Amino acid sequence: MSKTYINVLKEGPIGIIQLNRPNALNALNRLMVDEIVEQLEEFNRDDQIRVILLKGNHRAFAAGADIEEMMEDTPLTLEMTDPFAVWDRISLIKKPIIAAVNGFALGGGFELALHCDLIIAAEDAKFGFPEVKLGVMPGAGGTQFLTKAMGRRKALEWIWLGESMSAKEAAHYGVINRVVAPELVEEEAMRLANQLTKQAPISLRLIKEAVYAAEDLPLLEGKKLERKNFYVTFASEDQNEGMQAFKEKRPPSFKGV
Ligand code: HXC
Repeated sequence: MSKTYINVLKEGPIGIIQLNRPNALNALNRLMVDEIVEQLEEFNRDDQIRVILLKGNHRAFAAGADIEEMMEDTPLTLEMTDPFAVWDRISLIKKPIIAAVNGFALGGGFELALHCDLIIAAEDAKFGFPEVKLGVMPGAGGTQFLTKAMGRRKALEWIWLGESMSAKEAAHYGVINRVVAPELVEEEAMRLANQLTKQAPISLRLIKEAVYAAEDLPLLEGKKLERKNFYVTFASEDQNEGMQAFKEKRPPSFKGV
């Protein structure tokens, strides 16, 4: 399955989206973002898919929003078309999304990775928000995600200076999950994806909702939501299967119902 700017692949229960605009280091034009969001939603609806993987190529995950396209913008076209609002739909995806990052993840490319739940990166990957050097600023959640991940002071330092962050630094500040050799990024991301495909899908989904809620809700509200989600797991056959398998000393086989 191919669209204009992405390749789409299914490997068993893993849905893979590869950004495919190599001549522009996968710079994200608006059609490309639409294609990514629509494909994420399609995988989210697809009963066969349990985990989603997003990747670029060896040179770049994505080097930002398409600067040439942005040069055509005026305040009024931006206001009327609200081009970054579509990104909010990524936050509504219920299945785990893993980003596999080689090379550049800059500006909108970094924001795309930050919209994913887990990030695996190459030792030589470069993360950053260079927007300040273009006289603009992050616009698809960068200031929010980075501040939640690393705190206000470090986030301001990075976004103000517009410098690149190495994968090691990003991991140190909890911005990404794992750092591996460049040639192992995809393998590691697939290994992690495969592990997740073995877990109870309903648990994964309700855990994702509860963990994200922890960033926004007061403690008691968050705990209430967590409790409700816990109770909901008891409506699933997988809860029965998980506990029965424990009792029978065998691995569980979860079906997502
Ligand atoms: C359009 C881009 C691009 C971008 C790279 N290219 N990044 N085109 N928009 N963001 C194109 C180049 O123009 C060039 O095309 C080709 O990709 C290869 O890039 P080079 O610059 O030749 O490669 P290199 O010398 O290796 O430098 C790599 C780089 C540099 C350091 C990543 O390309 C760069 O600084 N890119 C811009 C990064 C950036 O500022 N990103 C933030 C954008 S603003 P040609 O045709 O010349 O070969 C943003 C706002 C987000 O993201 C808002 C919310 C969505």
